[in-house]
Amino acid sequence: MTLLDRRLILVLGKGGVGRSTMAASIAAACARRGRRTLLYQANANDRFGDYFGRPACTPEPAELAPGLWGLNTSPAAALREYGLMILRFQKVYDMIFENRVTKAFLRAIPGLDDYAILGKAWFHTTEEKRGRPLWDTVVFDMPASGHSLTMLRIPWVILETVPEGPLTRDARTLQTLLRDPARTAAIIVTIAEEMPATEARELTAGIEPLGIHPQRVLVNQMAADHFPAGSPAARVLGALEAGGPHDGLLGAVTTHGAMARARRALNEHYFAEIAATVPAPAFPIPYLSRTALRPDDIQHLSSLVARALTTPALTTP
Ligand SMILES: Nc1ncnc2c1ncn2[C@@H]1O[C@H](COP(=O)(O)OP(=O)(O)OP(=O)(O)O)[C@@H](O)[C@H]1O
Ligand SMILES: [Mg+2]
Repeated sequence: MTLLDRRLILVLGKGGVGRSTMAASIAAACARRGRRTLLYQANANDRFGDYFGRPACTPEPAELAPGLWGLNTSPAAALREYGLMILRFQKVYDMIFENRVTKAFLRAIPGLDDYAILGKAWFHTTEEKRGRPLWDTVVFDMPASGHSLTMLRIPWVILETVPEGPLTRDARTLQTLLRDPARTAAIIVTIAEEMPATEARELTAGIEPLGIHPQRVLVNQMAADHFPAGSPAARVLGALEAGGPHDGLLGAVTTHGAMARARRALNEHYFAEIAATVPAPAFPIPYLSRTALRPDDIQHLSSLVARALTTPALTTP
């Protein structure tokens, strides 16, 4: 069984590094394996619609590709669904949750929104249709690092602070799922630069005490290696630099070549640092030079991500 065959895949990482893009790519890979997959997010701005050439995702699951559904919930929608789950009946729910005073009270409980979003992800892992799981895999595009940590810690906080009851029962079930590597995979997304590398380490240090161990690190947006050491391209660039400075076109070509080489060297440096300090196999994912990623780009990234999640570690970028 590979990481693509887990029931729940948590996609974690610093803001802006490409969590949503990697989550979409992972989900597409799961669906291609024949797994009925739900791509789950709670983002104000949906990218998944564009990534699959479909309308933006809404709180209701919509088909994005064969075998792949996406939904974009909001704290209010998630809380409503979670409330309905515990209370079972719409009438009771309306009486309690739709009450003006209760509404204000609920809004004031710290972490409740986050708990509803996490709880809803878990709920989808348990949904059944005619005795079979509705979703083989739920891919959760989690919020940015610090926020994810707060969200993942909630079941632990509940168990420490809330008296035994339905809330603690669910929290315990959720905790068991999150720390079961046979059912849950934690994938860290980062970029091979100083700050994201540091944050990937901190994120790992934050989840490990919960018993959640990262299974892979996807090092996204790696610059291409246009000037490998000893290659003709590297020799030409070296000769241009030695003969410079140049004006005009030759000057521009030399400067841009040197920039691309420096960018790659920086990425290689931090890739090695990430591989050495985060205790999970690291895989490079290339930077695709586009104004906006299109469905065929996602398919391409998806095949690379599939390899990263189904094969053992690569040690060099
Ligand atoms: N490998 C890649 N090549 C080129 N562009 C990429 C790549 N990965 C992500 N991007 C682009 O980088 C931007 C940020 O990606 P994305 O939205 O996936 O990040 P995020 O971590 O989910 O951000 P946020 O913290 O805002 O949710 C997007 O424009 C996305 O299309
Ligand atoms: Mg995102």
